[in-house]
Amino acid sequence: MNVVVGQSGGPTVAINASLAGVFEEAVRLGAEKVYGMQNGIAGFLQEKLVELNDLLDDSEKIELLKRTPACFLGSCRHKLKGAEQNEEEYKKIFSVLEKYDIGYFFYIGGNDSMDTVAKLSAYANKIGSKVRFVGVPKTIDNDLTETDHTPGYGSAAKFVATTMKELVRDTSIYDLYSVTIVEVMGRNAGWLTAASALAKGEDCCGVDMIFLPETPFTMDGFFQKLSAKLKEKKSLVIAVSEGIKLPDGRYVCELASSAQGEDVFGHKQLTGTALFLAGECANRLKIKARAIELSTLQRCASHIASLTDIEEAYRVGAGAVQAAAEGKSGVASVFIRTANEPYSCAVEVREIDKIANQEKTVPLEWIDTEKDDLTEEYLAYARPLIQGELTPVFENGLPKHLCMK
Ligand code: F6P
Repeated sequence: MNVVVGQSGGPTVAINASLAGVFEEAVRLGAEKVYGMQNGIAGFLQEKLVELNDLLDDSEKIELLKRTPACFLGSCRHKLKGAEQNEEEYKKIFSVLEKYDIGYFFYIGGNDSMDTVAKLSAYANKIGSKVRFVGVPKTIDNDLTETDHTPGYGSAAKFVATTMKELVRDTSIYDLYSVTIVEVMGRNAGWLTAASALAKGEDCCGVDMIFLPETPFTMDGFFQKLSAKLKEKKSLVIAVSEGIKLPDGRYVCELASSAQGEDVFGHKQLTGTALFLAGECANRLKIKARAIELSTLQRCASHIASLTDIEEAYRVGAGAVQAAAEGKSGVASVFIRTANEPYSCAVEVREIDKIANQEKTVPLEWIDTEKDDLTEEYLAYARPLIQGELTPVFENGLPKHLCMK
């Protein structure tokens, strides 16, 4: 039977490596056609399918795909309602599956996308369909349960730590007081902001404070700490998560006038935290203050991808296909860490219901709230994930990408 694969949610640098893993393993196991859904399940509902056997017909294209940021197939943020509320959508999806003789459905995404896999596999059970649904995890947020970490996190963490190192050098050149606030993505989980702690080393004093959404943030507490730090050091670099919250539960970015709307999953668009805090620093302390929002740069910087991440993303895609070939459905492939030194992770599968719509945050015992830093345990967890580089293919001085014509 044929296979279909889609990508959904915010992209990562490694999501196309998972696509390569699904495609090559499906071909290896004898799938006749591997379809790609354009713009995820939203595109599938409109029968927007491409034939990956044509688009990925040589090994050079696969190598380029692994080095291409964002979603090769396009993405969506589409929430399937429950079958009892909108069965028409389910009927449409299953009729397209039947029309294209598709027996295996793979969806590469985060916790919201796993909700789609969970709903479709439950519906398949209900109607007695034999189609198998398997999730392939991805997200820079690293907030999926049941897996040691998520593909995409290692590369984004490598970018964040590298950028922090470079900023620490840049901000220390003048002999004057300054504060640089750097805003990192991750929604309600501080994993990616925590990666700022990796910047510290023999050649870098590291960032001065790190604030995660896992612990409440107060403006007064922030300014007390800042004033104390400025007595020790003139130029400070501070990492803040886009999702830091006040004790009353409001996001700090909601204090800014630039606050934005929500997506279909009810997630507020988080932006403007660094700008707001830098403005407050300039007003209250009368010193030079700069805001840097890493924004989408941190999830598309394939020029500094982690080789470990790319290789693992491929494996988790291939693992999903193997699981489906063994008859599994309603599951997602995950990483189970077997050792830290030397690092190794096995690919297994876990029930999709335990992953869909759940959020895994940074353990509180890994956050040093005295120093506003991360502990050694976090560093030992994260360091293996950023190891190795995948050199881009350069053309005319720029990295070359694979794109759909
Ligand atoms: O979930 C991944 C993520 O990149 C978050 O870190 C971020 O808050 C969100 O997506 C941004 O969403 P969008 O790309 O829809 O603006």
